[in-house]
Amino acid sequence: MAKARTAYVCNECGADTAKWQGQCPACGAWDTMSEIVLEPAASARTAAPARRGGWAGAAEAPQVTPLAGVRQVDDLRVSTAIGEFDRVLGGGLVEGAVVLVGGDPGIGKSTLLLQAVAGMSSVLPGLYVTGEESLAQVAGRGQRLGLPLDGVNALAETCVERILGHAARLRPRLIVADSVQTLWTETLTAAPGSVSQVRESAARLVRYAKETGTAVFLVGHVTKEGGIAGPRVLEHMVDAVLYFEGDVGSRFRVLRAFKNRFGAVNELGVFAMGDKGLKEVPNPSAIFLSGASRQPGSCVMVTREGTRPLLVEVQALVDSSPLSNPRRVAVGLEQNRLAMLLAVLHRHGGIAVGDQDVFVNVVGGIRVQETAADLPVLLAVLSSLRDRPLAEKTVAFGEVGLSGEIRPVPNGEERLKEAATHGFRRAVVPKANAPRAGSYKGLEVVAVERLADAIDAAG
Ligand code: TYD
Ligand code: MG
Repeated sequence: MAKARTAYVCNECGADTAKWQGQCPACGAWDTMSEIVLEPAASARTAAPARRGGWAGAAEAPQVTPLAGVRQVDDLRVSTAIGEFDRVLGGGLVEGAVVLVGGDPGIGKSTLLLQAVAGMSSVLPGLYVTGEESLAQVAGRGQRLGLPLDGVNALAETCVERILGHAARLRPRLIVADSVQTLWTETLTAAPGSVSQVRESAARLVRYAKETGTAVFLVGHVTKEGGIAGPRVLEHMVDAVLYFEGDVGSRFRVLRAFKNRFGAVNELGVFAMGDKGLKEVPNPSAIFLSGASRQPGSCVMVTREGTRPLLVEVQALVDSSPLSNPRRVAVGLEQNRLAMLLAVLHRHGGIAVGDQDVFVNVVGGIRVQETAADLPVLLAVLSSLRDRPLAEKTVAFGEVGLSGEIRPVPNGEERLKEAATHGFRRAVVPKANAPRAGSYKGLEVVAVERLADAIDAAG
């Protein structure tokens, strides 16, 4: 029998080394290396590519082939019966795809996936593996939501070997593992939930998916740092990474594609959580407005996440600070971007907020990653600083450069159209995005080229 080989894996970052070391050479953490048993060399040879997220199982040695001559296989897509979920997946679930769904506890991951498994059960018989809830809880939720549960099998199990044993017998076409943090494999001695266990268990499921063409959903809780189970250990193994986000206090939830081998990234799906589970919101444009606009410090922006425009309100509060080092807090936006905007405002606009606390928040718990949020954030900050609301029914979008120029953003016309459709009357936009006529379908367009123009436009 081949001797079992071992390696050492860091519990913090998942890096591996051949020898034990006191300090992880990758992340520098101390005393985090734990031993893992690798498979014997013979099986490791075919298994190795799968560990890196590739395809395994080819018995003969691969041949060099001209790419143009490779036969193309159309991805077979199955609708989840939830339109917004399909949109985020890139038009439905691709058979054999491994999709990681991450999000805070209580955001609705289990609900969404149970609804999706039930929705697909007539086409893809599913196996719902739960490591967190009892079967009675899962079944109870399914019945309360009135889901068609006929083609769905459930299993309360956390050991990957046993899960795959059941899968080999039942041959489901779709497996949901809720959640990866509860999974463990017999080949490792580390505790369930540790990075090495999560990584190895997920790798086993990925390998199974690629070998059998079974689609797999992995549910992952988000850690305090915002990653799934340690920095980036799962993201490179899977075909798609979706994050479920939103205010737990609000009804609305946003599902965002962060990585997708089969579709566009940053695509958004919007849902509302109600007493009958998650309902899609197919036309979400105006739900991220607080309704209390025309207050000082509020500005509506037209962001374009994924492939459709969205009207989102950003709020700012500028207040004199008792601290020698005033606070800059950005919720739903990048903190560094806020610091940069305030520096531009000071250097090129002569407006100092060095003795003020600045808080910026995007309404509705949504995260905006686009630079098109720069100009609206700036207008909101100016409005709060002066304690004067922006002109009624104003929207804005545009990027702010370090030399104080206002730069154009993609899809300007589509954004203007969205604002006009929702009854806005004034749009503050970069000059290069503005139509020549100075208005667009009843929308007065204020073109700004430099920071000074933007400061004037804030009124
Ligand atoms: P859940 O899917 O269990 O979240 P996760 O798996 O991400 O931890 O959702 C839990 C929350 O959703 C819980 O706070 C209750 C709420 N909820 C509803 O409001 N309506 C419903 O129909 C369901 C099933 C859940
Ligand atoms: Mg859950």
